[in-house]
Amino acid sequence: MCGIVGFVGTSTRDGSGTPGAGAPEGCAVVLDGLRRLEYRGYDSAGIAVLDADGGLAVRKRAGKLANLVGLLEAEALPPSTTAIGHTRWATHGGPTDANAHPHVDAAGRLAVIHNGIVENFAALKAELVADGVPFTSETDTEVVAHLLAAAHERTKDLTEAMLEVCRRLEGAFTLLAVHADQPGTIVGARRNSPLVVGLGEGANYLGSDVAAFIAHTREAMELGQDQVVTITADDVAVRGFDGEPTTGRRFHVDWDAAAAEKGGFPSFMAKEIHDQPQAVADTLLGRTDATGRLVLDEMKLDESVLRSIDKIVVVACGTAAYAGQVAKYAVEHWCRIPCEVELAHEFRYRDPVVDQNTLVVAISQSGETMDTIMAVRHAREQGARVLAICNTNGSTIPRESDAALYTHAGPEIAVASTKAFLAQITACYLLGLYLAQLRGNKFADEVGDVLAQLHEMPAKVQEVLDRLEEVRALARSMADTRSVLFLGRHVGFPVAMEGALKLKELAYIHAEGFAAGELKHGPIALVEEGQPVFVVVPSPRGRDSLHAKIVSNIQEIRARGARTIAIAEDGDEAVEPYADTVLRVPQSSTLLSPLLSVVPLQVFACELATAKGLDVDQPRNLAKSVTVE
Ligand code: F6R
Repeated sequence: MCGIVGFVGTSTRDGSGTPGAGAPEGCAVVLDGLRRLEYRGYDSAGIAVLDADGGLAVRKRAGKLANLVGLLEAEALPPSTTAIGHTRWATHGGPTDANAHPHVDAAGRLAVIHNGIVENFAALKAELVADGVPFTSETDTEVVAHLLAAAHERTKDLTEAMLEVCRRLEGAFTLLAVHADQPGTIVGARRNSPLVVGLGEGANYLGSDVAAFIAHTREAMELGQDQVVTITADDVAVRGFDGEPTTGRRFHVDWDAAAAEKGGFPSFMAKEIHDQPQAVADTLLGRTDATGRLVLDEMKLDESVLRSIDKIVVVACGTAAYAGQVAKYAVEHWCRIPCEVELAHEFRYRDPVVDQNTLVVAISQSGETMDTIMAVRHAREQGARVLAICNTNGSTIPRESDAALYTHAGPEIAVASTKAFLAQITACYLLGLYLAQLRGNKFADEVGDVLAQLHEMPAKVQEVLDRLEEVRALARSMADTRSVLFLGRHVGFPVAMEGALKLKELAYIHAEGFAAGELKHGPIALVEEGQPVFVVVPSPRGRDSLHAKIVSNIQEIRARGARTIAIAEDGDEAVEPYADTVLRVPQSSTLLSPLLSVVPLQVFACELATAKGLDVDQPRNLAKSVTVE
């Protein structure tokens, strides 16, 4: 939520502040960073630069980044080597020019950008208004601009001012500030909200995530909670909110700028759907030793702890929670450990029963979802061990967990999650198999077989991708559809829920996913003539009678006029007589099948939204990382 970029580069040797030959220009660097971060919020965007004459210049515009680019073409910013930029997902105050960031102080000398919510802003604002400070926006952020200006007036130092102000703020915030009296310096701060430092040569960067500066450097440093960072072109200094100097953890980003480009696809979403075989393969890579045993090296939880756990609780939100629901079926079957899955925001604000024998698994692509962060903290307070399954190195959730198991899906830019979902499911399988192997239960002997099947999945996902034409044609023919239902049983149930979520968020179509067994308990009343219903059909080769039951469900809805679209594996002829359309996926074991059956549903939603002329990468009202509760 909200993207933040900061850049300090090199001045000319004469110290005029004018960029030297070949030196990167502040506005261009920040604009490029904003382009890469726009997925975090696209209600408005703005840039502030410190110019060569010791002045501050700001441009900002409501709407997508393109509007800001238009403004900059009409009113260019002066050359600069110190610049900050922001792309907004509105919380306090609607998406207007006035509410866009950066916000400046009354003297026009200081600019600040912010991600998060200052929860005590009303009280602080009342204080400032009583002192006669004029406000020009409805945001919580403007309060910070005025407080920083007053503190700078006293301290004559932006870092000291930031430390002073941060101690007064409540809530979640990443802040970046510049002051015209301190050219060549940006001061940042973070509490409960992401901020990473990019370490360049003769230039340093700040960003909500590494995508902000990946075109310039792959060396990065994560900041801890409650820290203030001051960057210049050749120095990075970190202090705690208590003023004590400290350091952040340095890391290398293992993907490059090309991975964050569309690569010839019409949208990031289309590209990321096609990245999925690689995302699964990379998540599986290097997880076995020479004897074929699973080793999850980065998952630094004591084996004795993992042997002693008697319950697993998965906490996550949205698509990540559906990955957790798939995990439940696999983990309980393989490990015989009870596994609950709960939406992180519900878990946090009830009184969950967890203790030192509970393993809480927090699944998050971004590692910055505030609801999940709060659940992690709550779980640890209750004594539970927390394992993060995460796609983002240096992010808050793995940092605050006892251990991390990284998915290697690469950067996911489209707001709707696709490849991260498959990578999360894959990581959950690895965890389940690892626990079964470690605890030596009766399933342990089968771990090797399942691992071998898992290694076949990237090629099978690719097969699904190679057969998409029918799904695309179906989606285009359904562009006027107003409501779609999705049914599944067992692991097909979370797949149905995910299919419905993709359609809602991308195509703005009413969609609901149900457990097919629940149909007759109510939802079947929704079925009328022509109602499209997707049915995720389990393998007929499964051990129990799931397949027969879902074939009956298809008949029940068809008898009531539904238009049935089955997702069934190759060779399953039993569905043919009852389904209006059958979308085929390769054969696999039931527990691994979500990696295949969800793909046609992702493509269906993406294609239908495209047919409706919608922006599939940036659906309305959404943002990629939900960094506020
Ligand atoms: C849906 C989607 C969201 C996220 C959810 C959690 O397509 O992307 O539902 O899955 O906001 O985000 P992370 O995984 O970053 O915690």
